[in-house]
This record gives sequence, C-alpha cells and structure tokens, in this order.
Amino acid sequence: MHASFLNRKSRRVLALVLVLASTAILAAGAASASAGHGHRGFGHSRASITSQPWGTADGTPVNLYTLDNGRGMTVTITNFGGIVQSINVPDRHGQVANVALGFSNLAGYVSDDYTTTASGETYFGAIIGRYANRIANGSFTLNGVTYYLNQNNGTNTLHGGAPVSQWNTKVWAATPISGRHSVSLELTYTDPAGTAARVPPMAPPAGNGFPGTVTAKVVYTLTQDDALRMDYTATTDAPTVINLTNHTYFNLAGEGSGGVQGQDLMINADSYTPVNANLIPEGGIVPVAGTPFDFRTAKPIGQDINSGDTQLVLAHGFDHNWVLNRSGSGLSLAARAYDPASGRVLTTWTTEPGVQFYSGNFLVGDLVGTSGHTYRQTDGFTLETQHYPDSPNQPNFPSVVLKPGQVYKNTIIFKFSVQK
Ligand code: GLA
Repeated sequence: MHASFLNRKSRRVLALVLVLASTAILAAGAASASAGHGHRGFGHSRASITSQPWGTADGTPVNLYTLDNGRGMTVTITNFGGIVQSINVPDRHGQVANVALGFSNLAGYVSDDYTTTASGETYFGAIIGRYANRIANGSFTLNGVTYYLNQNNGTNTLHGGAPVSQWNTKVWAATPISGRHSVSLELTYTDPAGTAARVPPMAPPAGNGFPGTVTAKVVYTLTQDDALRMDYTATTDAPTVINLTNHTYFNLAGEGSGGVQGQDLMINADSYTPVNANLIPEGGIVPVAGTPFDFRTAKPIGQDINSGDTQLVLAHGFDHNWVLNRSGSGLSLAARAYDPASGRVLTTWTTEPGVQFYSGNFLVGDLVGTSGHTYRQTDGFTLETQHYPDSPNQPNFPSVVLKPGQVYKNTIIFKFSVQK
C-alpha cells in the first residue's frame, strides 16, 4: 500500500517535472523568438492578441486587449470607448516608449468623462461618435426637420453631446481576430436614435437627439509594418449625420515626457477653416500660405504657436480643421510628425476630407497620466482625421448625411517608423 502510494506520488512528481520542463522550453522558444525582433522578415514574427479583465463600467465587464505585432510594437486597447490606451514603439536605438497619452486604469477614463476638471473631458485615445467635433448651437436641420442635441461645450454639441451619449463612454462588444500577418480587434456598438425634433425652449433631449439608430463597427489592426489601422463602418435606419474619428494624443518622445513644441509636423493641406470664438468654422476655406497654419513643409509644432495670430488666441493654440489635399477618394496622406530627439516618426493616412490638429491646449496639469506624470498644455497633439466641424450646418462643406441603405466607411492609419 505504502509503496504503491509513494509510486503514485513519484509518478505525479515526475509528471509535474515534465510539465514544468516543457513550459520552460515553450518560454525559451518564445524568448528566442522575441530576441529575434531585429529580424524584420514577415515569416519570423509572432503576432498575438491577448486580453485581461480591466474592471466594469455600468456593470458590464471591460477588457484590456494587447495587440503585439511580434516585431517590437504593441498597442493596448480597451473596449470601454474603444480607447487606445497605449502605443509602444521603439526609437532609433530600439528603446520602446508609450507615445499615447492616457490613464493607467479604467477609473481614470470614466472619471475623465464624468468628472468636471479644469482640463475638461480629454477623450484620450477614444472612438468619437456620433458626430466628432462641434455642431453649432446644438442643432441642425435635415430634410426640413430641426433636431436638438445635448449642448456640452457652451452652446455647441461636442464629440456626440453629453457624456452619456458619447460613443467613448460605451462598452463595445469585442472580438479578437488573429490574421496571418496581423492581429485585429473588432468592436461593435449600436447607437439608439434620440428623441424626435422639439422646439425650444427645450429640455435636454432624451438620448443623443440624433435621428436614426446607427450600427457601428470599428476594426483596429496592428500590422507587420508598425501601422495601427482603424476601419470604421456604420449603417443607419433613418437619415442622419455622422462623423467619426479617433482621439489619440501623441507625444513621440513618450507620454509624460514634457512638451511637443520641438516635434516637427507636416500637414498635407493648402487651406484650413478659420473659426469664431465658439470654435465653430466661420464658413470660409482659407489658404494657409503666409499664416502660422502653414504646415505644408514640416516645422516644429511650437515654432509659430505663440505668434499672436487671432485664430491661435481664440483656440489657445492649434485646434483647427485643415482641408486636406486629396488624391482620389481612397487613402491619402494627411500628416507626418517627427521627433528629432528619439527619431520616431508618425505618418497618418485617411479617407476623410479634413484633419483637426489640436495641440492639447486645454490640458492644465490636473490629470495624472499613465506613467504618473501630469499633462500640461502642449504635452501632446491629436490628428483627428474627419469631416469638417459643424458640417451639418455648413452647406459649402462636404456632406455628412448617411441614409438607410448606405454604408459609411472611414479608414485611419497611424504608421510608426524611425528616422536615423
Ligand atoms: C477636440 C476639440 C478641442 C477639445 C478636445 C478635447 O480636439 O477640437 O477643442 O475639445 O477635442 O479636449
């Protein structure tokens, strides 16, 4: 009895030793694979997508997904708001840093949306919907009916309206997808129609105020050539307006490392849309030539930011829509940013007609970011590729109307590289 018990026990110990040994071998294999990162051939990469529980929002579990292209770049994305929480890319010496501003946990993002701070709502990394940027006076008229929205930015509706209506506050359904040479995260959300039109004086509308139930899908893909690609599609069951973007703030030297004034920016645009004091486009499409808005040739973000130009005074820096020079209707170069210190380069392509370049003007140092540093004015910049602000009220801007039977499509590419 005793002997056979010992035998069983030693068999178990032996089995355990074998399991541990094979785990170690797998780990060693993985280590040697990752040690091979210098090897940039597609056949040698081990792209992966993993997830971890990241708390709950409105009682719904939220995950943090890590997309790893197996070649030295990782991106973390949460299905709370589809937020890109970090983008980790090497510099010219292979030193990896997180170049996206954000928070270290879910509570940071929820508090950003619902707690009033001097910095305001930052929308770090998030999917913005149903209408990115501003709609003047929180209203627009479509097919003869006037719709009233939530006014959450003075009298404007900004980034979808009240936090409860914004797509960045929703828990999106998430499906990880492993492709042959890439990894993707598919996110879906159905945005219910708001209330029917009403005549002022108005109470806030029930829901978002927009007509039509919109079904949206955003697929994030991390590619082998260090690009984070975002493919947006949406359909509606009634005519509506739509404008979607991603609101990542970049600091190519690493988030929390200070200001971006010394980082170079090129914007592929000959003109921009000047704004009034409410940051609503005045309606004109004005040449950038001879103004601080001329980024056609790369220049440091800080070069003209303090120039005293009326438009820069109104917005406290850059917070404007550039009218992109487009070649055809597909993907087109929007902007290129370069950090001379680290060598990191960000190149952005878009299918959209405009880009909102925002220099983090409202960050006032009251938010502690991912690495424990505060974010202050000009510590990051956004390149929000999208339709022009207030398009529903501006007949000379490209249309943002989506009708039943049509499919809204929008692709954003943020590609990273280094310059020696
Ligand atoms: C956009 C707007 C800015 C600001 C930020 C969020 O970029 O254009 O004015 O509201 O979002 O803080």
